[in-house]
Amino acid sequence: MSPAKRPGVLIVAVDGPAAAGKGTLAKNLASSLGLPHLDTGLLYRATARRMLDAGLSPEQDDGAAEAAALRPEDLARPDLRVPEIDRGASAVARQPGVRAALLERQRAFAQAAGGVLDGRDIGTVVFPDATVKLFVTASPRTRAERRLRQLHGDAAGADEALLEQTAQELAARDAQDAARAVSPLRKADDAVVLETDRLDADAVLARALEIVREREGALPSAT
Ligand code: CDP
Repeated sequence: MSPAKRPGVLIVAVDGPAAAGKGTLAKNLASSLGLPHLDTGLLYRATARRMLDAGLSPEQDDGAAEAAALRPEDLARPDLRVPEIDRGASAVARQPGVRAALLERQRAFAQAAGGVLDGRDIGTVVFPDATVKLFVTASPRTRAERRLRQLHGDAAGADEALLEQTAQELAARDAQDAARAVSPLRKADDAVVLETDRLDADAVLARALEIVREREGALPSAT
């Protein structure tokens, strides 16, 4: 089914590999543009959490689509950003039944009044007609540093052994996300790549806002 976006509604898709800074950018963009923000990764994380809590493997098909029928409290849990759930989310995200169960929810979030969504397949599958598509990347080392700082504070970003391990975990998850048959991680043909190694969060936001304004300026006015 086509994700009919209403004319004049601003939808910004922010995709990219793990820990590239999609979430920070999407949150900042949403607040600058006065739009709601949806972290779609959280939906896959909460689904994996429910499977594990029910004694099911996130690898298994059976029970996965049911686990994706999320309640608000499932998304508010404090234990969704732990390594077990990083791996579990990437495993449940391969299941066509899970992706189908989460698709309408993501579309309904922004279809009427717009929004900023970050994930892996927003510009390719969820909103192929998004107004603006950004594909956020950074080197494996930068991404590992950012993830360690996010989880454990500034000092952790300087621990070489931990950095190496984290970079390997991110690479394994990206490989799994890019190799899956349904909605793999890939840049949409019409996405703008934002390479963020040498840009801090404010600079990434400023560049993204320029891209949004350029794109809006190029659109026929919605009358
Ligand atoms: O924050 P980080 O980039 O590490 O991951 P996330 O955005 O929270 O996503 C966790 C996992 O959910 C990813 O590794 C993907 O397997 C899956 N995911 C997906 O398949 N499609 C999305 N739109 C968002 C996340």
